[in-house]
Amino acid sequence: MAVLARSVENVPHSRIRELAEVAMSMDGVLRLYFGESNLPTPEYIKQAAAKALADGYTFYTENAGLPSLRRAIAGHYQDWHGVELDPEREIVITASGVQALNVGLRCMLDPGDEALVLTPAWPNGSSIVAMANAVVRQIPHPLCGDRYRVDFDALEAAAGPRTRLLLYISPSNPLGWVATEQEQQRLLDFCRARGLWLVADEVYDRLYYSAPRLGEPVPSILRKATREDAVAVVHSFSKSYCMTGWRVGWLIARRDLGLKATQLNEFIISHAPTFAQKAGETALECGEAELVRMIERLKANRELCLAALRQMPGVTVPSPDGAFYLFPKIDGLTDSFAFCRRLLMVSKVGLAPGVAFGAGGEGSLRICYAADQSILEPAMERLAKFLRAR
Ligand SMILES: Cc1ncc(COP(=O)(O)O)c(C=O)c1O
Repeated sequence: MAVLARSVENVPHSRIRELAEVAMSMDGVLRLYFGESNLPTPEYIKQAAAKALADGYTFYTENAGLPSLRRAIAGHYQDWHGVELDPEREIVITASGVQALNVGLRCMLDPGDEALVLTPAWPNGSSIVAMANAVVRQIPHPLCGDRYRVDFDALEAAAGPRTRLLLYISPSNPLGWVATEQEQQRLLDFCRARGLWLVADEVYDRLYYSAPRLGEPVPSILRKATREDAVAVVHSFSKSYCMTGWRVGWLIARRDLGLKATQLNEFIISHAPTFAQKAGETALECGEAELVRMIERLKANRELCLAALRQMPGVTVPSPDGAFYLFPKIDGLTDSFAFCRRLLMVSKVGLAPGVAFGAGGEGSLRICYAADQSILEPAMERLAKFLRAR
């Protein structure tokens, strides 16, 4: 009998999705399981897409995406980070952050290779490594006081002859941890010394609450890297511009990888949707004021949820610097999936179970606080009641 490839059988289903699929079949659920808000895409972006359709942006584009969008992204890195990028060879527009990660990792891994992944982490990176028939070595972030750190000793111990890359997310989903400049430098030095790719997922870089001025991004790893470094950055329009359903992102990488990823794009997706790329250009050009308003709103949401969680019995929650998640640890919790399922059934609150995020995640819950306060407030009340009754 024809069977599925072993390599795909080895890729586990996302446990976030598994829970969400149950929740999506229910009415009246307060939905905080996905990484998105309940706000629609801003009007000016929708109008830009409508105009692009009317203007005829309905045809194929280059595999690397519209040159005008690549130039706009290069300009963005120049303005925010003082980094010069070659839009022809170092920037590839992708159909989402997930696809940027997918095509990027595909260019780095052969079957049997190994990837170091800092966890707890949004699970897609590890699953994409598994799809490439490679092996994930998870390195949990230790929590020291109120801050997560990078366990460099564990990284040293885990690196071997088949290791090809190190993947981290900063600001982190689910921890909200932001790599310090010193940690960035050590990660880069670690990879340089071993000839590894360093992959930085920076999709939440604008959602940074410790910025000197709200709206300033977390400093990109690209500020530390040279053009010759084996560094790749994954990014997306999804989070900063409420464009999760649009599926447009980008990959920045050393020229050889950028060119190869561009060629592979042909066989994966060919390119991101043309009119959506055009709308992305408008988002970069006109989105600042609205983005800052969103970050202010997210910061207030973060305070609301932190204050509520800190009143709840048996809950420990560090204060995150970025992204839009809280990752509280619940005393005595050993099966976060069962907990979230019961919470969903009993209280109609949908959270993501910590176990979905790999090593170091079990025993915690992920709360996305991007939703409106009219959703967050009752969700926190119901969670508190559920915990008290536990
Ligand atoms: C860390 C991280 N990277 C990338 C993505 C992917 O974003 P998208 O595929 O919507 O562009 C997500 C989405 O949740 C994420 O959390």
